[in-house]
Amino acid sequence: MPENDKQGLSVVTCTAPVNIAVIKYWGKRDEDLILPINSSLSVTLHQDQLKTTTTVACSRNFQQDRIWLNGKEEDINNPRLQSCLQEIRRFSRKRRNTGDSTSDASSVSHKVHICSVNNFPTAAGLASSASGYACLVYTLSQLFGVESEQLSAVARQGSGSACRSLYGGFVQWKLGTQLDGKDSLAEQVESESYWPELRVLILVVSAEQKSVGSTSGMHTSVETSQLLKYRADVVVPSRMEEMIRVIRERDFPAFGELTMKDSNQFHAICLDTYPPIFYLNNMSHRIISLVHRYNQYYGETRVAYTFDAGPNAVIYTLQDHLPEFVQVVRHFFPPEVNGEEFVKGLTVCSADLSEELKRDINMEPTPKGIRYIISTKVCVHAMSTS
Ligand code: DP6
Repeated sequence: MPENDKQGLSVVTCTAPVNIAVIKYWGKRDEDLILPINSSLSVTLHQDQLKTTTTVACSRNFQQDRIWLNGKEEDINNPRLQSCLQEIRRFSRKRRNTGDSTSDASSVSHKVHICSVNNFPTAAGLASSASGYACLVYTLSQLFGVESEQLSAVARQGSGSACRSLYGGFVQWKLGTQLDGKDSLAEQVESESYWPELRVLILVVSAEQKSVGSTSGMHTSVETSQLLKYRADVVVPSRMEEMIRVIRERDFPAFGELTMKDSNQFHAICLDTYPPIFYLNNMSHRIISLVHRYNQYYGETRVAYTFDAGPNAVIYTLQDHLPEFVQVVRHFFPPEVNGEEFVKGLTVCSADLSEELKRDINMEPTPKGIRYIISTKVCVHAMSTS
């Protein structure tokens, strides 16, 4: 509920999580409405480690809408921001006209001031548009009294992947078939408590800004990659069904294998794009090798990687295997710093590595190849904090 003072100032603060796709969204069939070419599925990460916090104030004394991101004022006329603001105000008026809304009737015509901050460094190269737009749309909806069923379609128009951050746990974004996009919505597959043993590590390898943003990268892929069409028509429909099944069965080896194959296919499409896009670097390739050698040693998939539009790896594993794998990472990427400076977030117990395991992995260590690790798990949806 908005805080409301006598000056007619209403203020709401909310938070929203980051999500990491295990079936990737890559390509739009409608760039204005942000309608995808394929369905996608993601895992929502814990907000203690990665979240956006947004405060929106609205007042009859404000002259214009304004926005600050991480303390710096940004252009409010950004078309995607404008789409979100217009859509929320439209839904709010519609609800008021039907007499369903309890919020202050005049506030929807007032201007807003928006402040948004991330609890993770933007320089880490982790996607912030998903949590950012999910948080913006959710906070505006709390201020203006918009129903939660409408939010997926609005957040999607800020950034496609943002619609998935409105939900916790395991979330699918169905591509839909309607031209107006009304059925292209995110929905929860299973809640955050469904698979409590699942753990997530983010291996931060580079602070550099990504060379090609997701929006322009996927545009070029749609124009030039034949593999993208094959993926959308043939691969993803059955892969979505299978992914949902293996999550419901909590079948980690199958979940891990599908996750890695989907990440690899997404990066294959990037190479098939003309001119090609390279998101992975040498360190990403080394992490991929390490994960396969580790799994091979045990003869089963215990750890899985996935990469978005950048070189950082996101690792999924089960709690039981976490301490040993983190120790493997420390051994093959000896860090510059140790302790909590290297592994941030949820505590990871220490573990010993057998000489046999180190020998079988058989890789030359790369000192300082990984800057730090964020240890986290699956979590809940966007929520109000005041
Ligand atoms: C590789 O949602 O950032 O992370 O809709 O243009 O804002 P826009 O793109 P965005 O793309 C995310 C791409 C991805 C895969 C994924 O999250 O599914």
